[in-house]
Amino acid sequence: FCHPAWCYHLPSCNDTTWSTIVPQYCNGTRQSPIDIVSASATPNDNLSEFTFVKYDDTSSMTSIKNTGNTVKVTLKSGVKISGGDLSEQYDSLQFHLHWGDGSSVPGSEHTVDGKRYPMELHIVNRKSSYNGNTSLALNDSTGFAALGFFIEVMSGNSTGQPESWRNLTSYLANITEKGQNVSIAAGFSLDDLLVGVDRTKYYRYLGSLTTPACYEAVVWTVFKDPIKVSKDLIDLFSTTLHFNDRTSQIMKNVYRSLQPAQQVWTQSIKASASTTCFSLSLLLLSLALGWSWS
Ligand SMILES: *[C@@H]1O[C@H](CO)[C@@H](O)[C@H](O)[C@H]1NC(C)=O
Ligand SMILES: *[C@@H]1O[C@H](CO)[C@@H](O)[C@H](O)[C@H]1NC(C)=O
Ligand SMILES: *[C@@H]1O[C@H](CO)[C@@H](O)[C@H](O)[C@H]1NC(C)=O
Ligand SMILES: *[C@@H]1O[C@H](CO)[C@@H](O)[C@H](O)[C@H]1NC(C)=O
Ligand SMILES: *[C@@H]1O[C@H](CO)[C@@H](O)[C@H](O)[C@H]1NC(C)=O
Ligand SMILES: *[C@@H]1O[C@H](CO)[C@@H](O)[C@H](O)[C@H]1NC(C)=O
Ligand SMILES: *[C@@H]1O[C@H](CO)[C@@H](O)[C@H](O)[C@H]1NC(C)=O
Ligand SMILES: *[C@@H]1O[C@H](CO)[C@@H](O)[C@H](O)[C@H]1NC(C)=O
Ligand SMILES: *[C@@H]1O[C@H](CO)[C@@H](O)[C@H](O)[C@H]1NC(C)=O
Ligand SMILES: [Zn+2]
Repeated sequence: FCHPAWCYHLPSCNDTTWSTIVPQYCNGTRQSPIDIVSASATPNDNLSEFTFVKYDDTSSMTSIKNTGNTVKVTLKSGVKISGGDLSEQYDSLQFHLHWGDGSSVPGSEHTVDGKRYPMELHIVNRKSSYNGNTSLALNDSTGFAALGFFIEVMSGNSTGQPESWRNLTSYLANITEKGQNVSIAAGFSLDDLLVGVDRTKYYRYLGSLTTPACYEAVVWTVFKDPIKVSKDLIDLFSTTLHFNDRTSQIMKNVYRSLQPAQQVWTQSIKASASTTCFSLSLLLLSLALGWSWS
């Protein structure tokens, strides 16, 4: 992407200035992130399961980089998703993170009913049919599919958990400065990082990239369940990395503020509720008729 100068931490380029820096997109009408109001989400049973290809591959992550605004992990080719009511297959290109100030100052981008989580992980996917042409995808209102996962502090006093996150965060000390990039050794997969999330339960809406140029080209999927990571590992993000060189500010509060609401869809709870009602009616009927199992 061709990024104009922008930042999170200086008054001259923080997110209050983005709609001036890139007025044609960052001041658009379907900007991300948003607060998701769970009670207002429209039921949509087209929101089927995803198929995740190579998410179980323990060598899918090739390198990890301090971009000056986030930590970005590049995925090898062949990692992809389909299903989930997406119009076609999308290639998973990279994931990166957003955070506040450790486990105490939350910094997820999306919020749910006003709740902000400590961190948020974004997997960025591009329509496979564009054969790697990002400009074409940016000009398509559904050219990208972003998967958002909330990260919450694991309860109890555990440290270094889960092991996949200990493995991932072990590289942060190697990329403390902007531009630093190291290879990731094989040994853990995307599935290992996305532990504990029921990936059939999610919110869906049409939005944008959350960094300039804020292209309105993103189908958002925000999963309901958070990934649980121990406090010590969450804290590493806001204590290890710098925006620039070693003498610059520590990288904190790397998230965009909330944008105006959009229509949000989610799976209806009807399916399981009707099963319950049906079982309950059967039970009542059987009691009424005095049936027995013997
Ligand atoms: C961003 O910069 C503006 C001035 O441009 C300032 O008023 C505001 O407090 C800053 N916000 C943050 C979160 O730093
Ligand atoms: C953003 O859009 C609003 C209304 O759509 C307009 O009033 C405002 O001037 C725009 N801001 C910039 C910086 O273009
Ligand atoms: C589900 O998909 C069908 C076929 O594409 C479409 O006609 C229908 O409007 C969709 N339902 C919702 C709730 O979007
Ligand atoms: C992307 O596609 C456009 C339109 O077909 C073309 O002009 C451009 O050169 C392509 N870009 C790349 C990087 O292939
Ligand atoms: C961008 O998309 C519009 C339609 O949405 C199309 O008319 C235009 O040709 C596209 N531009 C490029 C460069 O592909
Ligand atoms: C966590 O550690 C504190 C202080 O060591 C202790 O009081 C507390 O019971 C521990 N909590 C759990 C869930 O282990
Ligand atoms: C963590 O990394 C080690 C060394 O690369 C690897 O053997 C192990 O499988 C990884 N475990 C998890 C859960 O990621
Ligand atoms: C990360 O830094 C440690 C300590 O300096 C070093 O031993 C290790 O080889 C580095 N790892 C990578 C992948 O560069
Ligand atoms: C990291 O460096 C490797 C080569 O050392 C390069 O192939 C890769 O594209 C770089 N990754 C990023 C995100 O810059
Ligand atoms: Zn992001």
